[in-house]
Amino acid sequence: MTEKRRTLIIGGGSIGERHLRCFQQTGRADVMLCEINDDLRETLRDRYQLAQVFGTFEEALAAKPDIAVICTPAHLHIPMARQLAERDISFLMEKPVSTSLEGVAELATLIDEKNLLTGVAYVHRSNPLLAGMRDAIRAGRFGKPLQINGISGQHFPYYRPAYREIYYTKHETGGGAIQDALTHLLNLGEWFVGPITDVVADADHNALEGVEVEDSVNVLARHSRLMGSYTLNQHQSANETQVTVICENATVRFEGHKGRWSYLTEPETEWQLGEELTFERDTLFINQANAFLDCWAQRTPFVCTLGEGVQTLKVALAILESVSDKSWKKISV
Ligand SMILES: NC(=O)c1ccc[n+]([C@@H]2O[C@H](COP(=O)([O-])OP(=O)(O)OC[C@H]3O[C@@H](n4cnc5c(N)ncnc54)[C@H](O)[C@@H]3O)[C@@H](O)[C@H]2O)c1
Repeated sequence: MTEKRRTLIIGGGSIGERHLRCFQQTGRADVMLCEINDDLRETLRDRYQLAQVFGTFEEALAAKPDIAVICTPAHLHIPMARQLAERDISFLMEKPVSTSLEGVAELATLIDEKNLLTGVAYVHRSNPLLAGMRDAIRAGRFGKPLQINGISGQHFPYYRPAYREIYYTKHETGGGAIQDALTHLLNLGEWFVGPITDVVADADHNALEGVEVEDSVNVLARHSRLMGSYTLNQHQSANETQVTVICENATVRFEGHKGRWSYLTEPETEWQLGEELTFERDTLFINQANAFLDCWAQRTPFVCTLGEGVQTLKVALAILESVSDKSWKKISV
């Protein structure tokens, strides 16, 4: 029997509980929880029969886990990651990496010095459909990519009724559509066609009651020469994500809501199926947990490194700036 990794989940809120459950379901992790809310901590201890739970981060660090999963609001990610790295603990961090670049370069240096495994939980990268479409594009099957368009939306209050009481209400804690949902789409675009180098953006608060942060955003982007556009809102009824990569010899499209990617090579012909697959949302998080555990065992880089997460953070910060002063921004890649 393989030895289980002692895995600490930090923050047992909405996504923390999912990571807890999904790491447990790999059968390869002994899961511990650090959660400051006493009622929530005890509920999760009972629900998942956890052997060890902690009410403070200091107590959790003293337990010397092998791996930690940072699931607190974004403004806490870097200080927590720093304390983990100082104790030689590898970590998977929820998105976005942070709400500013403060402490990011110092953390990256420390991680390099200590040769630790890090990852950012941009979970699209654990979706086999997206991985298959990316592999086909990058292998040159459709010719060179020329343009990318991402469109996404969902009714956030339906899926997250507590949105008025969590990190979402303020930019300072990682809230608003840009830092919350759009970063997933941007990170996916960067995974497909490389880093975003320039952006100009428009955003507004249009619909979500009880908050003032933007819930709708349009971005024009450049991935160096390649042109991109990303549009997203958090109030439409349809829960849909579509990413189209226009290549020299085909239009290639992922439709998350239809569980497939497909391609079209000649005008006035039918779309042809690349791959079709339906799965529960937990499956992606179990894939992600297994991939992180594999990387830990094999000492190989995770599918989204801290560096790639930081790049997407720079794009999100540039978009916030662009919305405020209505001008193009360059991102130092
Ligand atoms: N990948 C995804 O699909 C996805 C989905 C939701 C949220 N997220 C990200 O995950 C992060 C958390 O989001 P959430 O929705 O779970 O928020 P949440 O508010 O539901 O949960 C955060 C939890 O962290 C706990 N916490 C706060 N400070 C702590 C500390 N010092 N020590 C231990 N626990 C502490 C809180 O008590 C709370 O239970 C955010 O960065 C968010 O953007 C990612």
